Amino acid sequence: VENFSFLPTPLQFYKTLSEELGVKLRVKHDDLFQACGGGNKARKLQYSVKAAQKEGHNAIVTTGGAQSNHVRATALMTARLGWKAIMVVHGEEPKTEIYQANLKLARLSGAKIRFVKADNVASAMDQSMEELKNDGYNPYYMRGGGHCVAGCYSYYDAVKEVKAQLKPEDYPDYLVLASGTGATQAGLIAGCGSLLPGARVLGISVSRNKERGSQVIHESLRELNGALARAGENAQEIHFDDAFVGEGYEAAYPRLLETIEWAAKAEGLVLDPTYTGKAFWGLVDYVRKGAVAKGANVLFWHTGGIFNLMASKDI
Ligand SMILES: Cc1ncc(COP(=O)(O)O)c(C=O)c1O
Repeated sequence: VENFSFLPTPLQFYKTLSEELGVKLRVKHDDLFQACGGGNKARKLQYSVKAAQKEGHNAIVTTGGAQSNHVRATALMTARLGWKAIMVVHGEEPKTEIYQANLKLARLSGAKIRFVKADNVASAMDQSMEELKNDGYNPYYMRGGGHCVAGCYSYYDAVKEVKAQLKPEDYPDYLVLASGTGATQAGLIAGCGSLLPGARVLGISVSRNKERGSQVIHESLRELNGALARAGENAQEIHFDDAFVGEGYEAAYPRLLETIEWAAKAEGLVLDPTYTGKAFWGLVDYVRKGAVAKGANVLFWHTGGIFNLMASKDI
């Protein structure tokens, strides 16, 4: 699989948070991914858009909510490549002239943004594809969240990247991340299976329930293993925990907000209420309850979310 070239993201040890938590905490900073505003969605696009480019595409249609990191990263990526882009955004167009955070960046990229009701996303995407074809483009249809096998593969590859940054004695016992579509988690499970077999991947759901989330990860893993022509070596049982979702996607709750404040004050670690804050609160709770052992090597995979923090009215 080819990708656009990019630098490894930083890996940092957090001393104070490690002491307060009682584990050895390292953070893989994909929030600082170098392109398209950063985050896991930006990393995935380096692979999925490369694959689309190889197939001769020169335009894209995709979808997400107003504060979707995927929509923002895709819009910026297409601007960089000079592609035409239509973003089908479910929800109302903001009343104010000034769009916030992710949506502001998507608009600045010059992508066409089309607001529709959630029920009309599929038809609006089909219509957008037709429009671009009629204008002479060869558009690529990208599912919401950028979910595809090349995206999963980018996280298989990312395990190689982090392994090269770690000393063997620091290899993780646990790898913790925020999980939505589960594509990131599927790639990390496959990568750890090959390269860091001692690492238990703990996915903290940001929206889906355990059953649905685990099932989708299972399917993504099967697809990825098929593409890699391997039998799923050392596949671990899927851990997708929906206990930290709260009332739902983008819904905040007091323990989550306290965790975000604590991490920022204790050591300048920036988390957000939609994704990484929920995952980090999950980690704190696991350590408190003994599900993650004291003294363990913990790798927290920071998947981004700064723009969700900036758009939040809760913190
Ligand atoms: C910051 C952030 N973290 C985590 C996720 C979840 O990633 P995935 O959909 O691969 O599970 C997303 C998805 O939107 C995200 O934007």
